[in-house]
Amino acid sequence: MKKVTIPQLVRSKEKLVMLTAYDYWTAQLVDHAGADMILVGDSLGMVVQGKQNTLSVTVDEIVYHCKAVSRGRQRALIVGDMPYLSYHVSPEDTIRNAGKIIREGHVDAVKLEGGRKRIPMINALLDAEIPVMGHLGLTPQSIHAIGGFKVQGKDEESRDRIKAAALALQEAGVFALVLECIPYDLAREVSDLLEIPTIGIGAGPYCGGQVLVTHDLLGLNFGHTPKFVRQFANLGELGTAAVKGFCQSVKEGSFPTLDESYSARKNKAVPLYGGSQLPLEETRN
Ligand code: KIV
Repeated sequence: MKKVTIPQLVRSKEKLVMLTAYDYWTAQLVDHAGADMILVGDSLGMVVQGKQNTLSVTVDEIVYHCKAVSRGRQRALIVGDMPYLSYHVSPEDTIRNAGKIIREGHVDAVKLEGGRKRIPMINALLDAEIPVMGHLGLTPQSIHAIGGFKVQGKDEESRDRIKAAALALQEAGVFALVLECIPYDLAREVSDLLEIPTIGIGAGPYCGGQVLVTHDLLGLNFGHTPKFVRQFANLGELGTAAVKGFCQSVKEGSFPTLDESYSARKNKAVPLYGGSQLPLEETRN
């Protein structure tokens, strides 16, 4: 299967789909389902580590999750998020961190948050042949500076700032731009201004593409669901019912049956645990 490339994405500009994945299983799911891009987002700090924000996610954690995701991808382009403070210190440090995400995590591009201030870092990354996706609007790594997870671009001054930053990032060479939690008319203006694709999350229908956190769209999030999320399934409920069924079956002694057990006949090599390719003898005996 042919992999999605950056020139292809930039050319198509419209109807692009990006979804988060932090592991092999989810990467396979979203890749098979047709996502164009997989984002190994620093949202993993909140979604899989249960933290209040993304600020303590490290480069090593991003690399760990990128490795797992890259094993599950066949077609989609993988973008690794640069965590807080991994691209704020110097261009050299930024290249080292992004290089690690690319080389060890086996991803195709990196994403970083912020406007004009980031341009020296973006220039350095592009000089090192590392493709960069930008991210404006609500930038979760700035929550202390902006006063929390709040919709951005509501007044003239901040609208102008976002438009100017979008143009500056495009000029610097980012291949796409995430717009998070801004009014839909501003997202439309920015999308019309730019030649590169915009990818919206909480930014309305006029962006070139859309991104959601996969756990949110699957209904796997037990906490607050933001207004911009549509739950296309409620796997949280289904999963809870399934796990309750397992607990009950073990307690009442109806699981496992002999049909679900091995006999003394010679073992055949079969995959274990859904995805493992290891022969049974090597893994169980
Ligand atoms: O970390 C993340 O998942 C993101 C998306 C919400 C765009 O940055």
